[in-house]
Amino acid sequence: MRLAGKVALVTGGTTGIGEAIADRFVREGARVAVTGRDRTRLHQALQRLNENGEAIGVVGDVQYAADARRMAEETLGRWGRIDVLVSNAGICSPAPFLELTEEEWDRHMAINLKGTFLIGQLAAREMAKQGSGSIINMSSVNGLAAEADQAHYNATKGGINLLTMSMALELAPLGIRVNALCPGFIETRLTKSLIDNPAAIGPYLRTIPMGRVGTPEDIASAALFLASDDSVYMTGHCLVVDGGQLIKLS
Ligand SMILES: NC(=O)c1ccc[n+]([C@@H]2O[C@H](COP(=O)([O-])OP(=O)(O)OC[C@H]3O[C@@H](n4cnc5c(N)ncnc54)[C@H](O)[C@@H]3O)[C@@H](O)[C@H]2O)c1
Repeated sequence: MRLAGKVALVTGGTTGIGEAIADRFVREGARVAVTGRDRTRLHQALQRLNENGEAIGVVGDVQYAADARRMAEETLGRWGRIDVLVSNAGICSPAPFLELTEEEWDRHMAINLKGTFLIGQLAAREMAKQGSGSIINMSSVNGLAAEADQAHYNATKGGINLLTMSMALELAPLGIRVNALCPGFIETRLTKSLIDNPAAIGPYLRTIPMGRVGTPEDIASAALFLASDDSVYMTGHCLVVDGGQLIKLS
């Protein structure tokens, strides 16, 4: 059990990548708080997670400071510490740059980037008191290279990478490691419309040297590595998990 005795907080932990991470962490012995906006989905996720370990749920929206505070407080109220934060909650709704609205720009910035800052700061304050902790910010390959129709999303993920390095720099002396995960194309509801479109998915798969889309479990494995002491000398790193997509020029 690589996370025995640890307490983890996973935002957006009721679906997709976040749920796979919460599930892996519970199976590795962590006690896990998952957050979500939808009570029914949260309840369903908790039923699954509690079959393999100990999990609690917190309803909240990561873009609001009061909600982020409640996420941290309810985790601390239950277990008294936070050893691992996975700032995973995020949105992505594509729009061509020339048609991108201010509202969509602001919504992506608020949820993806500000949301990562808010909960990251709260968790880091607790970890500083403990003298240890690991923060994993969910970025994307879109934080390292640009994809068309995703200027707003790309900008939030690029921002998360620099936020990760900035946090890592200031928090290292306090015993806190901060890394980012940069998944490639992962099969979740975020990518379902492309996966379900046979005309689109064939050509897309040819951009991935490993020839398949990733699974949420592929990302959970990397999150476990960053959460555990196996990565004890790593901080400020953006870990790419993309089947080789970023190394391919054409
Ligand atoms: N699927 C991919 O190909 C892919 C690739 C790179 C990065 N990512 C990133 O992985 C993360 C998880 O995405 P996913 O693919 O599992 O999709 P998903 O839609 O299943 O997961 C996103 C989660 O975030 C939650 N969420 C969204 N807005 C929120 C808010 N305001 N407050 C609280 N929770 C909120 C959603 O309810 C959901 O549970 C995201 O940050 C996404 O950008 C996904």
